[in-house]
Amino acid sequence: MDSADSAPVVEVRNLSVTFEDDKGGLQALRGIHFDLHEQEFLCVLGPSGSGKTTLLRVLAGLQPPSEGEVKLHFAGEPRVSLVFQQANLMPWRTVLQNITLPLELAGVDAQVANARAAELVELIGLQGFEHNWPRELSGGMAQRVALARAYIQDPELLLLDEPFGALDALTREKMGAELLHLWQERRTSVLMVTHSISEALLLADRVLVLTARPGRVACDLPVDLPRPRSEETRYSARFAELARRLRGEIE
Ligand SMILES: Nc1ncnc2c1ncn2[C@@H]1O[C@H](COP(=O)(O)OP(=O)(O)OP(=O)(O)O)[C@@H](O)[C@H]1O
Ligand SMILES: [Mg+2]
Repeated sequence: MDSADSAPVVEVRNLSVTFEDDKGGLQALRGIHFDLHEQEFLCVLGPSGSGKTTLLRVLAGLQPPSEGEVKLHFAGEPRVSLVFQQANLMPWRTVLQNITLPLELAGVDAQVANARAAELVELIGLQGFEHNWPRELSGGMAQRVALARAYIQDPELLLLDEPFGALDALTREKMGAELLHLWQERRTSVLMVTHSISEALLLADRVLVLTARPGRVACDLPVDLPRPRSEETRYSARFAELARRLRGEIE
C-alpha cells in the first residue's frame, strides 16, 4: 500500500525526552522526527534502552516531550490504544468481560459492547473461550484477548510495545498473521515496537531503527515486499537484503 502520498495522521517533530535524575538528567530520546500515515504499519526497532517504550508513551499522551512535539491529526478526540508485552488481563473477569471492559468504563450499553466483543472474538479466533478465565488461557490466547480489548475501542492509532515478546517463535508468527488480519479489516494506523527484524519485515510498511541511548532515528526504511506476505516471503532475496540492511543499522 502506498500511503506516503496521503497527509500524515501522526507527526513527530524534533522530539526529545529527558528524565530528571541527580546527574543532570538522562536523555532517552533526541531529535526524533518522522511521520505516520493513515493505515500505515510502522515498526520500531532499536537496542534495549533506546527509548522505544518512551516514544510510545509520548504518543499515547502518558509522557510529555521535553522538546519538540507530537501532532495527532484525527477528527475530534483521537482514539489511541496501547498494548503491552504482557496481556495484563483482569483475573476476575472472563475473556468476554475483559474485552468489553473499555466500553463498560466508557458507559457503553452492555448489549452493544457484547455484540462488538463477539465480532472481535470471531476475528481473532477465540470462539468457545468467551466465558473462560484468564488463568485458563495460553500466552498467545491471552495476548489475543489484549488485542481484542484494544480493538474494541475502534482505535485510529494502535500502539504495540513488543506485544508478542513473551511468546514462543511459532505462536509469535501466528500472532503476527492475526494482527495483519485485524489491521487489514480495521485499517488502523499502527506503530509497533519489536525486537525481531523478521517480524518487522513481515508486518510493516516501514521500519524505523533507533540508535542506542539517547535514541535517534538511525534509519527510516520502506519495506517494499509485496503483500500479502507469508512464510515464503522470508526466503526471498529482497527479504534477506532488507534484513541485512536492518541488522547493519542496529549494530
Ligand atoms: N519514567 C522514567 N524515569 C526515568 N528514566 C526512565 C523512565 N522511563 C524510561 N527511562 C529511561 O529511559 C531510557 C529508555 O527507556 P525505554 O524504556 O524507553 O527503552 P526501550 O527502548 O523501550 O528499552 P527495552 O527494549 O529494554 O524495552 C532508559 O535508560 C530508561 O532507564
Ligand atoms: Mg521497552
